[in-house]
Amino acid sequence: MNQSDVRPESMERITSEALALQFIDEQIKALKEQIGSNKVLLALSGGVDSSVTAALLIKAIGKNLVCVHVNHGLLRKGEPEQVIRVFRDQLGAELIYVDAVDRFLDKLAGVTDPEQKRHIIGKEFIDVFAEEAAKLDGIKFLAQGTIYPDILESKDGIKAHHNVGGLPKELDFELVEPVKLLYKDEVRVVGKALGLPDSMVFRQPFPGPGLGVRCTGAITRDRLEAVRESDAILREEFAANGLAGKVWQYFTIVPDYKSTGIREGKRTYEWPVVVRAVNTRDAVTATVPEIPFALLQRIAQRITAEVKGVNRVLFDLTTKPTATIEWE
Ligand code: XMP
Repeated sequence: MNQSDVRPESMERITSEALALQFIDEQIKALKEQIGSNKVLLALSGGVDSSVTAALLIKAIGKNLVCVHVNHGLLRKGEPEQVIRVFRDQLGAELIYVDAVDRFLDKLAGVTDPEQKRHIIGKEFIDVFAEEAAKLDGIKFLAQGTIYPDILESKDGIKAHHNVGGLPKELDFELVEPVKLLYKDEVRVVGKALGLPDSMVFRQPFPGPGLGVRCTGAITRDRLEAVRESDAILREEFAANGLAGKVWQYFTIVPDYKSTGIREGKRTYEWPVVVRAVNTRDAVTATVPEIPFALLQRIAQRITAEVKGVNRVLFDLTTKPTATIEWE
C-alpha cells in the first residue's frame, strides 16, 4: 500500500467545526500545490463523498474544477436538480449536466437479471463519463471521493475499490483524493463546515445502480416512476415524523407483478409498493426498526392515492440475513 494511503496514528478524528476548518485550510493549500493552474475533472453523483470533494476543490481551484453530473434516470426525485442548484447556482461550479436518461433506459430495456443490470449501468456510466472527458481539453487530474474505508476494504480484499480502476486506462489522469484519509463521519463534519446542505451531508446510503435495483426485473419507465414517487413520499413522511436521521436506510421497491384491487367501484390490476426500512452498523447484517403503525397507514394511504399504477402497500419485516437490504 502506498504510504500516502495510510492514516497517521497522530491524525486527530475530525469531530468539530474547528477541526474541520483546520482540515479544509490544510487541504486547500495542499490541493493548490498539487494542481497549480491545471484543470481537474470530477464525476459528481450528489452523494456525500463526491459532493464534499467537489466543494473542497471549488474552494481551492474554483473554475479549474470541472464537475460532470450524469443523470442516468435512476436517481431519486429531485436529486439532479439539487446537484445543479447547490453546485452551479450556489457554489458557482463549472458543472456539465449530462441527460443520459434515454441512453441508460434503452440499454436496460428487457434486461431482467440483477447483476446484468448492475453491469450495464456501471459500464454505461463509464462510457458517458469518458465521452464527456474526451470533449474537454487540457485536463490533467481526476478527482475522486475515495474515503478511508474504501482504501481499507480494498486492501483487505473485501471489495474492489469502487472509486479506483473503474475508468478506462486511456483517460490518463493523475488522481486527486482530498478526503481519502477520512472516515464517513468526518467527511460529514467537513461537508457541514463547507456549507453543504444537510440533505446532502446526511444523505442515507444510495446504491450506485440507484432505483434500478428497486424496480425489480426488467425496468419500465412507468414502474420506475412509481418507485421514484413512492420513495419521495416515504422520505417526506419519515422526515416529517422525526425518523429521517434515526433510521439508517429506507426506500421503496416496486416488484414486476400485479394484483387485483378496487378503486371507485371498479376492479384494478396494479403493482404493489414494498416499504423497506433497516438499521445496521455496517450493512453486513440489518434489523428492522419498529415504525409507528399510524405512520405506516398514512404512508400506505398516500402512496395508493398519489402514485399512478399502485393499489397495494406492503412492509418488509425481514432482517438481513435472510434477506439482503436491497431486493436485487
Ligand atoms: P445489500 O442489499 O447487499 O446492501 O444488503 C447492503 C448495502 O449496500 C448497498 N448496495 C449497493 N451499493 N452498489 C452500491 O454502491 C450496489 O450495487 C449496491 N447494492 C447494494 C445497499 O443500498 C445497502 O446500503
